[in-house]
Parts: sequence; C-alpha cells; structure tokens
Amino acid sequence: MEKLLCPSLLNLSDDYLKDEIIRLDQSGVDILHIDVMDGEYVPNFGMSFQEIKTVRANTSLPLDLHMMMKNPGRYIRRYAECGINIMYIHPDSEPIPTETLAEIRELGIHPGIVINPGISLESVAELFPLVDYVLVMTVNPGFAGRDYLPWVEPKIERLVEIRKKYQFHIVIDGGVTWEIMERLWNKGIEGFVLGKQILFGQEEDYKTIIKKVRKHSNFSC
Ligand code: DX5
Ligand code: ZN
Repeated sequence: MEKLLCPSLLNLSDDYLKDEIIRLDQSGVDILHIDVMDGEYVPNFGMSFQEIKTVRANTSLPLDLHMMMKNPGRYIRRYAECGINIMYIHPDSEPIPTETLAEIRELGIHPGIVINPGISLESVAELFPLVDYVLVMTVNPGFAGRDYLPWVEPKIERLVEIRKKYQFHIVIDGGVTWEIMERLWNKGIEGFVLGKQILFGQEEDYKTIIKKVRKHSNFSC
C-alpha cells in the first residue's frame, strides 16, 4: 500500500496561488485537497470557483473537493465544470445524500462522504457501498490549524475493519502531525490531508518533505 498524500490548499496564500500549485504539482503528492464552504454549514469561506479553475489550469493531479456546505447537491455540476475528480459531501448536510452521491458518479466523478467527529459510523453505514472515498474529520470542520481530536481514533479503527467488505479509500482530515500519521498508517490508514503540521510553513520545501513522508512509509512496511 502506498500513502495517499493530499495537501490542503486552505493553507496557501492566494497571492502566489499559481506558483504554489506548480510547486505542489512537482513535489510528489497524490491529490490536491480543496476546501469549499458556504458560511452557513460552517462559519467560514474557502476557495472560489475562479481559484479552483486556476488550480486546475496549473496541475494535472487529481483534485478532491471537500464540500462544507448545506445542500451541496445544488453545486455539483458547477464544480464538475471546474475539473474536480473526487467530491466529498457531509451526509448530514443533505436531505437525500444517496441521490447526490449517485449524481456525482453519473458525472464521472468519484463520490465520497465526510464523517464529522460527532457523527457515528452507524448513521452513515448505508452509504459505504456507494462511495470510493471516506474522509474522516479529526477536527471539527471549517478552519485550518485546529488540534487533532484523539477520541476519534476508536472510530477510525472500526472503519478500517468495515472497509474490508468494501472498496473505499480512507483519508484523515485535520491536525495530522508526523506522529499521528505514523500511528494511523500502522493501523491501516493510507490517506492523509496534509496541513500546517507537516507540509506548510516549514523550512524545507514541499519536495523534500514529501520524500521524507514516503521514506517513513517504507520503514513501517
Ligand atoms: C478543516 C479542513 C482541513 C484543513 C486541514 O476544516 O477540512 O482540510 O485545512 O489542514 P490542517 O490539518 O492544518 O488543519
Ligand atoms: Zn478538508
């Protein structure tokens, strides 16, 4: 198993968006993680359609869209036009999530769900056969730089067990540090959203850090 490394673009400065995307593109990451918000489901805003188009124009890497908004189904066609490859919805934000997930797949995009810290696996169990990705929030959604919530970990362990019956990838989003990544990797998690703790605002460049992350995974195999 290879690690799935997904830098969160919420950590980028808009001033150098194009240059930063090119740097990330060449750093060896797998998927660019784009957070979008409506100021209602969470009290914040993320990338605009225009910025996402700039991202798409400067990389051929897959783009995942983390939709922190009410009724995300209203927007999936517009985001599809921006060249998104994976769409994550919060099932608690949509009255009929199964329909939205099916529409995402019909558009040729990988559907995914997001499980907030306070949402149980039981409450979303019916959705597991319908998705290619499950994003587990280890912070409450809406802001970059929050601290990892360790009490979510038993749920992550149960999800690894459940996944044996399905096909989906598991990705962890929020406050991931080197230590947490290593621990969860050893528990069978392959996907990590990378934020300030590992990738952004560090002295070393993206490429050097990503090489180190990959090396770590060889160690524990
Ligand atoms: C939080 C977002 C995350 C966040 C990750 O609501 O979903 O993607 O930006 O970055 P860190 O781990 O630095 O908070
Ligand atoms: Zn996110």
